[in-house]
Amino acid sequence: QAIRREDYRPPAWTVPEVSLDFDLDPATTRVRARLEVSRREDTVEPLRLDGAGQRLVSVLVDGVAINDWRLDGDTLEVPLTGDTHVVETEVEIAPDANTQLMGLYASNGILCTQCEAEGFRRITYFPDRPDVLARYRVRMSADKARFPVLLANGDPIASGDLPDGRHWAEWHDPFPKPSYLFALVAGDLACNRSSFTTQSGREVELGIWVREADLPRTHHALHALKLSMAWDEHVYGREYDLDVFNIVAVDDFNFGAMENKGLNIFNSRYVLADPDTATDMDYDHVAGVVAHEYFHNWSGNRVTCRDWFQLSLKEGFTVFRDQGFSADQGSAAVKRIEDVRALRASQFPEDAGPLAHPIRPESYLEISNFYTATIYNKGAEIVRMMATILGPQRFRAATDLYFDRFDGTAATCEDFVQCMEDAGGVDLTQFRLWYSQAGTPRVSASVTHDAGSGRATLRLGQQVPATPGQSDKEPMVIPLKLRLFGAATGRPLTDEQLVMLNQASDTIVYEGVTERPVLSINRGFSAPVVIESDRTPDELAFLSGTDDDPFARYEATQQLMLDTLVAGAIEGGRTNHDAVIRAVSATLSDPSLDPAFVAEAVLLPAEGFIADQLAVVDPEAVFAARQALRSDLARQLEEQWRAAYDGPREPYAYTPRAKGSRRLRNVALGYLAATNTGDAGKLAFTQFAAADNMTDRQGALQVLANGDSDERVAALDIFYNRYADNALVLDKWFQTQALATRADTVEIVAELSRHPDFSLANPNRARSLVGAFGVNQRALNRADGAGYRFLADQLIQLDKLNPQTAAKLLPPLGRWRRFDATRAVMMRAELERIVAVPGLSKDLFEQASKSLEG
Ligand code: ARG
Ligand code: ZN
Repeated sequence: QAIRREDYRPPAWTVPEVSLDFDLDPATTRVRARLEVSRREDTVEPLRLDGAGQRLVSVLVDGVAINDWRLDGDTLEVPLTGDTHVVETEVEIAPDANTQLMGLYASNGILCTQCEAEGFRRITYFPDRPDVLARYRVRMSADKARFPVLLANGDPIASGDLPDGRHWAEWHDPFPKPSYLFALVAGDLACNRSSFTTQSGREVELGIWVREADLPRTHHALHALKLSMAWDEHVYGREYDLDVFNIVAVDDFNFGAMENKGLNIFNSRYVLADPDTATDMDYDHVAGVVAHEYFHNWSGNRVTCRDWFQLSLKEGFTVFRDQGFSADQGSAAVKRIEDVRALRASQFPEDAGPLAHPIRPESYLEISNFYTATIYNKGAEIVRMMATILGPQRFRAATDLYFDRFDGTAATCEDFVQCMEDAGGVDLTQFRLWYSQAGTPRVSASVTHDAGSGRATLRLGQQVPATPGQSDKEPMVIPLKLRLFGAATGRPLTDEQLVMLNQASDTIVYEGVTERPVLSINRGFSAPVVIESDRTPDELAFLSGTDDDPFARYEATQQLMLDTLVAGAIEGGRTNHDAVIRAVSATLSDPSLDPAFVAEAVLLPAEGFIADQLAVVDPEAVFAARQALRSDLARQLEEQWRAAYDGPREPYAYTPRAKGSRRLRNVALGYLAATNTGDAGKLAFTQFAAADNMTDRQGALQVLANGDSDERVAALDIFYNRYADNALVLDKWFQTQALATRADTVEIVAELSRHPDFSLANPNRARSLVGAFGVNQRALNRADGAGYRFLADQLIQLDKLNPQTAAKLLPPLGRWRRFDATRAVMMRAELERIVAVPGLSKDLFEQASKSLEG
């Protein structure tokens, strides 16, 4: 039965104070909870506490054992007569048996917790909803040899030894928080310690906790944490509020990381990095996730969410904040390109498929299924549009107002927008449709010019596609940054302007336009929409070479490539590649461009994104069209690729400059391999063998894994043997093969799923093989259906261990409407097979059943 947004009611009881006592043991942990509960004025309801999967030992009210409690499913009902009581429960839980990785679980000998969204109820009985804010006192006791370090939220208060080789520690968090922010960790951990002085002069002790052997890989994360703390003070005026900030890395984690108050728990892949084991992209992600979780301390923790329908309130805003942080560390243009690429790869398909939902959904079966690219990344775009509309000063005033007005409370998306209006002096009534309407708007744009009168006319239109449950849509407010350039002189004809398209169609007239204008639109990707313009290949090539907005330049190149690839996929045979080749050649030879930008601009759109433009996807035709353009570019520009490849080298450093040169070199290597002249394998192998960092090594390995050279197997073996004891790097070994553009990838991946190092129990490993395979469009959609079968088999197995992670990997099977009838039938058959599994989780059931309907 679905949970609906409109059914929200405030909690009947609040819990101002809670004390938890953990007797920790991996096999059986005893949890005693002492809740001070307080009745809300107008309620007559009994106290209802959420639970799941634990054994209830006893219930006490005001110190007296009671027997008239009852269990209604997983909910514990305690009849209470007065307005305030002390309710105590004792339960037993089994961390070792917890394969879902929600609640208290064990990861390689470390006991840790994950409570968002509804994991706390697997630890103890509690009103497990984000609008119940409590102050927590936590006592833990555990075997001292196995668990020498005991951490929880807030500040450490006291600790000591116990008989039988055990010890204890007590922590107190002075900030009231919802249960989803609770955390504890017990384990044999080493710490990279440092400190940070806040703008008001308070000293904060920082610690990154990992296994001893991993300590040398923690410096980048620690550095990123300090940069984040300073950035949030500087850009948002937000200061850290406790005396301690700890980050713990664990190997088994359902997603990236978690912002528990004062005790962030991370997937180790977003903490550990050194040049030998982490690529530049890994370094970027570590810094981005550290920043994201740190920024949650204000956008999420100090101001939290009233209910889970408001998830984008904290996630969209926090993604927007971490994007801003990362943009400030290097090239803002390249960061914007990367973010838009990610949006198109993961969010646009969501918006166009059976699982489409607005950034503030109306209902769900399982909230874990709503930690989506829509809530996170589209949510960030919605915040970005408001920031654009308000401008920097008023946006800052609005966020100040928001933090001030809602500090210590559980707020709603509406509250956030209201602050934008109040401080920004704008009316966002219609803009709010972005919170309720799903689907990616399509904006048409065309310019006509009358040379005689010097009048140019821009016609804009918008259309929001139907999505499941939403057939009719209202026109949205779409902020479009645009500018006109003269086709003959290359000069700008107008300043950049911000046009608010808020009707189905609109017309803008420009006078005194003396030459034919070329339209630059959605500059900086000012709105998360698809632009449909009638710009010719020549006009796009012109913008690709001259637009003053780097994003627009990138975009013009991509559009040109996309138009060419779509034509190629439809026509099958030869299409004209000349305009693309000229544009790429010009980009490669423009000395004014940052190599990091060049590397992005010359990359062809992903197969999935090309497929999204087609009415019916023929994955082999998409693949073939892309390969044809790729090898044409490779051959015709071979000298330029070689020059880019052999160009001046930077010694290894994690700086924007050195990163950019490595990136361009790897892109050039990919093109050189696509010339198919035979020495591609040798060139890649030489880079592989000589590499002094993972970016060069993995870049070469991916090129080798895609191909058929003699060096392929050798390189994979060398890589495997070198990193056999490093799980994060072995993930890359699996992932590289699952992403490979080979005809036999399905067989290779099936074989790898039986490899001794493969395990579905570890989410990183599962994602590295099954997740990567799911986004390998050609392999997954192989005509014989072997890809679909493999994916469904894996999901069914994974669901028994870890439903949340299984559900995350299902969406590729839900794209059946986009394919030919034969494939659609096979995909549906796999979805039906999943839905019919006895004992299927709610998580996977929701995703699979909605995928069949939508
Ligand atoms: N709040 C965490 C973050 O964005 C992620 C929690 C994900 N929870 C889930 N059930 N999927 O940093
Ligand atoms: Zn987050």
